[in-house]
Amino acid sequence: MASSFALLFLSSLLIATSFRSSLAESDVSGGDDLLIRQVVDHDNANDVVSDENSLLNADHHFEIFKRKFGKAYATQKEHDHRLSVFKANLRRAKRHQKLDPSAVHGVTQFSDLTPREFRSQFLGLNRRLRLPSDAHKAAILPTNDLPTDFDWREHGAVTPVKNQGSCGSCWSFSTTGALEGANFLATKNLVSLSEQQLVDCDHECDPEEKDSCDSGCNGGLMNSAFEYTLKSGGLMREEDYPYTGTDRGSCKFDKSKIAAKVSNFSVVSLDEDQIAANLVKNGPLAVAINAVFMQTYMKGVSCPFICSKRQDHGVLLVGYGQSGYAPIRLKEKPYWIIKNSWGPNWGEDGYYKICQGRNICGVDSMVSTVAAVST
Ligand SMILES: *[C@@H]1O[C@H](CO)[C@@H](O)[C@H](O)[C@H]1NC(C)=O
Repeated sequence: MASSFALLFLSSLLIATSFRSSLAESDVSGGDDLLIRQVVDHDNANDVVSDENSLLNADHHFEIFKRKFGKAYATQKEHDHRLSVFKANLRRAKRHQKLDPSAVHGVTQFSDLTPREFRSQFLGLNRRLRLPSDAHKAAILPTNDLPTDFDWREHGAVTPVKNQGSCGSCWSFSTTGALEGANFLATKNLVSLSEQQLVDCDHECDPEEKDSCDSGCNGGLMNSAFEYTLKSGGLMREEDYPYTGTDRGSCKFDKSKIAAKVSNFSVVSLDEDQIAANLVKNGPLAVAINAVFMQTYMKGVSCPFICSKRQDHGVLLVGYGQSGYAPIRLKEKPYWIIKNSWGPNWGEDGYYKICQGRNICGVDSMVSTVAAVST
């Protein structure tokens, strides 16, 4: 593997209102199901008619969407603009459904954002970032005894799904998730760790490009955040340094309250068996992914025919499996299980499944493992 990646400045996706996404969910679920069917269940024969129908009903569906996700717009003009974006996203979800038939695509909390807004407000900038000086290359591990299915959630190594809000801080959630798992393996205690410490205090820069640095809600990288955590001494608990979703505060790191320490961190090779072996041996892995299909993802195994490998989102790989794969594929195919940071109401209880085998959406090409100090 090359010593430097064309790494991207990762950030995130979420909108502030999604914190309220559980509001009014139960009383609109019937209408929501209808909407989902309309978006995804069109059959080839009557495309034009179906399009017409779903657009005729779009106003109604937009009302349901606004209630479900607690959306409010300041002006009528803004409202009408968001309605037109919403309509375009109904068509886009339908396109995603065709490109990605083993997942279900439809309305999500992002359905009033254009793809460009989704990327530019919530995904951050592309930067070249070299690997931090303390990164190792992960040792090549034996792969012959790997279990066919594995999920760190079943072994107590994964905290509940968190929510980054409207802040490009996905990289900090991927980092804490990996260290939470490593710390669990080292100490037998599962402790939720502070993303806000990383958002406020971690300004680790590319060793060769001094203006590419971890920068709060404007993005960052997991490897740089591991480097920061190694140098600073460790991370505090979530409850001692809670998440605020903004990067306007000052650093409140208190060394006397460190809850988990990095021993070392390593980059894992592209090989999927090596990724699986590192996952099983070392705990959940920090990974980067292209998030384009995640804007409309609802459930299932995402396996798009085409997906850019340009990563723009940091997430946590917690397991893999084969069961439950759509019968359309004739036989079961393995997938990765990914913890996201957009709250438990997104995707499958906050999780995403993506197929293995083709480095889909770049999921295999920026994988890091971290080890915690066992004190
Ligand atoms: C990383 O740290 C762990 C735990 O302290 C140790 O067992 C392992 O050998 C270290 N790996 C490297 C590459 O230094």
